[in-house]
Amino acid sequence: MAHDWAGKTLGIDFGTSNSAAGVAVAGKPYLIPIEQGAPTLPTSVFFGVGASQMSMGSAANRALIAGEEGRYMRALKSVLGTSLMGEMRMFLGEKMNFYDIIGAFLSQVKSRAEAQCHQIFDYVLSGRPVRFHSADEDRNARAEADLVECYMRAGFKDLRFLVEPEAAALASGVPRGPGLSLIVDIGGGTSDFCVFRMADGIEVLANSGIRMGGTNFDKRLSLDHVMPLLGKGALIRNEMGKGAMATPNSLFQKLATWEQIPFLYAGDVKRDVAKMVRLAVEPKPMERLFEVLDMEL
Ligand SMILES: Nc1ncnc2c1ncn2[C@@H]1O[C@H](COP(=O)(O)OP(=O)(O)OP(=O)(O)O)[C@@H](O)[C@H]1O
Ligand SMILES: [Mg+2]
Repeated sequence: MAHDWAGKTLGIDFGTSNSAAGVAVAGKPYLIPIEQGAPTLPTSVFFGVGASQMSMGSAANRALIAGEEGRYMRALKSVLGTSLMGEMRMFLGEKMNFYDIIGAFLSQVKSRAEAQCHQIFDYVLSGRPVRFHSADEDRNARAEADLVECYMRAGFKDLRFLVEPEAAALASGVPRGPGLSLIVDIGGGTSDFCVFRMADGIEVLANSGIRMGGTNFDKRLSLDHVMPLLGKGALIRNEMGKGAMATPNSLFQKLATWEQIPFLYAGDVKRDVAKMVRLAVEPKPMERLFEVLDMEL
């Protein structure tokens, strides 16, 4: 479709950990203060029990830290291209999936930017990692299609993508010259790289990326230092006969993965864990795990 993109396009960096929005004025990019004067907002959402609206960004983080009752989610971008996208769950008394949640987040970014700029943005220029998923081309394509769908739900009429390290290269202010430059963008979910030269415009020589970032470090920390306190590696006596087996690893993998945590609050998971509490050789860690799930901590 041919559009007049100029003046109606909002630039969005939908990041795994933080998001930002900007506009081009006379060809130069400007960040829009979309969060109480700040140019970035945490990519997180909170569905408070009894609340009528989802809160997002710093407000969602404050709700989590204050211990408000509800469901907190982050690293939403990591779900793009996975089968979790379409899974329905109840939030605020409504059935929602990740298309709805990410769409609602992006819709808020759109309306906050519109309020700041006193204009409507019909189109979006969105960043995307070079690779959402490291080696799997099918999944990369699905992730991109998922993100398109989320932007459509947010109310945009059309969009274009720019790979994130190239956007960083454009915004870097590197002066014209014969030398080569390298952008290294280590994010929450992916790390992206761009080799470029500034000639008359930007000349990109190579873009590359891997699915590895800050959330992988968070996960390792959680798995190695927190999950053992909640029963990772603990022994559960067999129900029939002698012997014992280690607790299932998949449970702790999920609990250490931001986007999977809300799926552990289901009744059947809690029943399984309650059974493990009864059969545990060492009940204390399993009791802690049950409490974490039961209280949605
Ligand atoms: N002081 C710090 N020391 C180490 N790591 C940090 C620090 N502050 C932030 N980080 C890491 O940086 C990550 C956030 O970076 P950034 O905001 O660039 O990611 P993003 O753009 O949201 O993610 P992506 O581009 O992968 O989608 C966090 O996940 C965190 O792990
Ligand atoms: Mg980023």
